[in-house]
Amino acid sequence: MTGLRLQLVPRPGRPDFLDLPWDAPLSDWETDRLAVVARGIGRHVVRFVEYDGVFYALKELPHDTAHREYRLLRALNDEGLPAVEAVGIVHRPELEDVLLTRYLEFSLPYRLVLARRPVADVRAGLRDALAELLVRTHLAGFFWGDCSLSNTLFRRDAGALVAYLVDLETGERHDELGDALREHDLDVAEENLAGELLDLQAQVGAADLGEPTELGADVRAGYERLWAELTAEEEFTVKDSSLLADRLQRLNERGFDVEEFELAQIEGGYRLTIRPQVVDPGHHRRRLLRLTGLDAQENQARRLLRDIAEYRGALEQADQPPVSEAALAGRWLTEVFEPAIAAVPKHKWTKRQAAQLYHELLEHRWYLSEQSGEEVPFEEAVRDYLENVLPEIEDERAIIVDQRAPQDDA
Ligand SMILES: Nc1ncnc2c1ncn2[C@@H]1O[C@H](COP(=O)(O)OP(=O)(O)O)[C@@H](O)[C@H]1O
Ligand SMILES: [Mg+2]
Repeated sequence: MTGLRLQLVPRPGRPDFLDLPWDAPLSDWETDRLAVVARGIGRHVVRFVEYDGVFYALKELPHDTAHREYRLLRALNDEGLPAVEAVGIVHRPELEDVLLTRYLEFSLPYRLVLARRPVADVRAGLRDALAELLVRTHLAGFFWGDCSLSNTLFRRDAGALVAYLVDLETGERHDELGDALREHDLDVAEENLAGELLDLQAQVGAADLGEPTELGADVRAGYERLWAELTAEEEFTVKDSSLLADRLQRLNERGFDVEEFELAQIEGGYRLTIRPQVVDPGHHRRRLLRLTGLDAQENQARRLLRDIAEYRGALEQADQPPVSEAALAGRWLTEVFEPAIAAVPKHKWTKRQAAQLYHELLEHRWYLSEQSGEEVPFEEAVRDYLENVLPEIEDERAIIVDQRAPQDDA
């Protein structure tokens, strides 16, 4: 087929996709590479292909929309925002374009969140994840325009959920997002969520998600609370200047770093301003990555860092001389973390991401200790988890409904 043009982001080991039947509409494809995975509902034809155990999503779109979504996704990827990864775009004469993204591994569409219940309180988990995703998107200057449960994927993050952006056809990038656009995004989210919950209740019940309109209102409230916490102006007198240190520490604990702040002198004190563009999420993530090279979600990173601190405490109690942060983290990695993960057979690594698995091992030790009324050694908790918990857990790396089967939109 002449006129076919593939624009791809190169990564080691990534295929060139030239063997796919590009001259046919996506819905007509019949190739061994097709797989049917669990997915959300959408307007366009979306199908999935597999190369050497790695899955990719393909979405058929009109040229301009495809291009816009591709550009925006690449920008979001560069900013480190939680979104599916853009892989490429394919221009085809006389057919719509195809947008390629990497399948987001270990993610759950919302219906599976309801079915598998990855957190104790699903409603609170969805609410917090969506509110935070909107805040992060806006801090980086992006307008989404179609926030909904189906346009989001959810990953486990220790005892919480983290939301990823999937569908960005209506997105826009701005230097700074004004209040009107932020407000507009929240209105759209409220409307979409109410519609989705109505459908859900009609189809499967889902009463524990509350009244259809409530979730959206809660997302808005959570968003506004977090946005204010991050960006509200504060005034303080010279005497209570510890307020500044407190504020920055609170933001760190919440998982955000501030690159710059401004103090302007006013009558009797100062006004503290933090501009949204200089607030960066990922405080614990970055710290864990620097210390150990481990890439985790924010809450997982927070939990692992706490474990490293406890490990330091144990070393100090055993009268071992304190070591540098880096040496301590290195020792924790080789003596504690790696052995625990290595105890899990490799073919079961498709059940959980390593950092999540470690979090669950810690939870399991806590649970066993509570049950027996005494501190259970970690090795024993790992053994018990492998024997009694892991076998019951389903795979989550890619949730394949049916390999090489026809398309299904459910
Ligand atoms: N990269 C991806 N990884 C995992 N699932 C995906 C990916 N891309 C799309 N999906 C699934 O396909 C569904 C539809 O995709 P979406 O981009 O929202 O298409 P539409 O424009 O038709 O709404 C999503 O809800 C999601 O479950
Ligand atoms: Mg969609």
